[in-house]
Amino acid sequence: MKHLLTIQDLEPKKILELLNLADQLKYEQKHGIQHHHLAGKTLGMIFQKASTRTRVSFETGMYQLGGHALFLSGRDLQIGRGEPVQDTARVLSRYLDGIMIRTFAQKEVEDLANYGTIPVINGLTDYCHPCQILADLMTIREVKGRLEGLKMCYLGDGNNMANSLIAGGIKTGMTVSVATPKGYEPNAQVMEYAKANGNFTLTTDVLAAAADADVVITDVWASMGQEKEAAQRKAAFAGVYQINSTVMAAAKENAMVLHCLPAHREEEITAEVFEAHAKEIFEEAENRLHAQKAVMVELMAN
Ligand code: CP
Ligand code: NVA
Repeated sequence: MKHLLTIQDLEPKKILELLNLADQLKYEQKHGIQHHHLAGKTLGMIFQKASTRTRVSFETGMYQLGGHALFLSGRDLQIGRGEPVQDTARVLSRYLDGIMIRTFAQKEVEDLANYGTIPVINGLTDYCHPCQILADLMTIREVKGRLEGLKMCYLGDGNNMANSLIAGGIKTGMTVSVATPKGYEPNAQVMEYAKANGNFTLTTDVLAAAADADVVITDVWASMGQEKEAAQRKAAFAGVYQINSTVMAAAKENAMVLHCLPAHREEEITAEVFEAHAKEIFEEAENRLHAQKAVMVELMAN
């Protein structure tokens, strides 16, 4: 593994190895066992979009691994004034040991990886959110004790989270059921992959998707960069594409709920369901730290 650009790129075995390492790093951190696997190394973190969890978990994670992290705002870098990503990649490769990037186009992340000579980690694009999905799989395994054979239901926008959850769920042997409004389906190639490699269904019917689910997941109706479409999207999703008590009644009795956050209460999830499952949702947020430390150790340790 040279980079983490998408979940699709990872072999199922590699996903499980990363989850095992994340569990171990979590245990060590909780027990005060130092793990300076990245002493003397520097991670550059390029942000073209806002972030709370990704920024803080990568920066803290790098510190806990004995390394250093640099926050590089897209507004301040020359990239924001038009310096090509190809040149940025070649320059940063001479200073840093790894780059985490959050941006719009997946192509920008791929260019960074192709032109640079150091590992690149995708911290969210319009297309996918692989770090989040590793944390989600880690959390599901913690709560349910396994992944294989479980049913994952995702309802809402067929966005970056949907694309990565479908790929991650299928790769770890889960049944994946997705409900979106017409016109808001996940990426076609991701769905082709899922149909060819596992048990995947797409529907517009949220209750059908949630039926007997072990895990119910949603995300915002309008992602970063889609602010102008917010009203139109609200009209397409409101009143239907929401995790609420009716949806939870269709799922298994002990079903868990995940949300990558930030959450919009009474839009994609009711406050009632959110608070009832807050323990899982905030464990999921914490697990970003542990899962990303595993990714950085895998990519950046000697
Ligand atoms: N879930 C997630 O990526 O959160 P941030 O946007 O706060 O990084
Ligand atoms: N789909 C959301 C996820 C945020 C973590 C977005 O892209 O804004």
